[in-house]
Amino acid sequence: MTTLNLPQRGFSMAYSEAGKGLPLLFVHGYPLTRQLWEPQLTGLADVAHVLAPDLRGHGASQAVPGPYNMDMFAADLVAFLDALGIYQKVVLCGLSMGGYIAFAFYRKYAARLAGLILTATRAVADMPQARLARDQSAELARQQGVTAIVESMLPKLLSPATLQNCPDLVEQTRQIMAAVSLQGILGDLVAMKERPDSTPTLAQIRIPTLLLPGASDQIIPLAEAQAIQAAIQGSLLEVIPDSGHLTNLENPAAFNAAIRTFLQNLRYEE
Ligand code: MLT
Repeated sequence: MTTLNLPQRGFSMAYSEAGKGLPLLFVHGYPLTRQLWEPQLTGLADVAHVLAPDLRGHGASQAVPGPYNMDMFAADLVAFLDALGIYQKVVLCGLSMGGYIAFAFYRKYAARLAGLILTATRAVADMPQARLARDQSAELARQQGVTAIVESMLPKLLSPATLQNCPDLVEQTRQIMAAVSLQGILGDLVAMKERPDSTPTLAQIRIPTLLLPGASDQIIPLAEAQAIQAAIQGSLLEVIPDSGHLTNLENPAAFNAAIRTFLQNLRYEE
């Protein structure tokens, strides 16, 4: 793990990296950290320069107070790439909230992207009921702390089969979430509640895009990925079997294999 000071963004960002070649930037979701991407840091380092930062307020990145928004996260990622001297195009892979950030990134910085990988995510904004649930989660976090959020999210993040059969993975997921600060959780909840509808963005996406929904995702139904695929010209969809919301962690073999094939076939303008 390395820490990079981003003075123009007002915080220091921690990240892990492995391999060399085409930059493959992994963006975690809520309430998670870069440690989500351990199976990709080890499993894809022979085909790409794997980069996995902690978003502001998460993991070993500085716990700056919110409110956060998706444009802010996207600007943080650009500052991160700039600070590393990475000006060549990157492939961005976002999981769930990381996908919401990927849409914001595309809207402002499409020229920096060679491809998009969207996993366990959706394009639509929060409906009124979901917005209310964000406020209730924020209240829970303020009253009872990060642990209460961790325990409320755990049964939803993993598939029923993973929850039942993989106690080590359940514990690993709990540990990853426990490293998110209260500021990070509150910041994410506002960012997700206020995020715009990205549906209009989909028709504008003109780069290779791969969708990787989890077959047993309890948070985001498969139909959301199918709707995204129908709207992004030429995009590909591969369902990750034996997986809930944390596709890359629950079935790293299928997830990494899909990414390898995507990278092998990737054609883009430098
Ligand atoms: C995530 O995994 O990033 C969140 O569960 C997404 C959401 O709550 O909308």
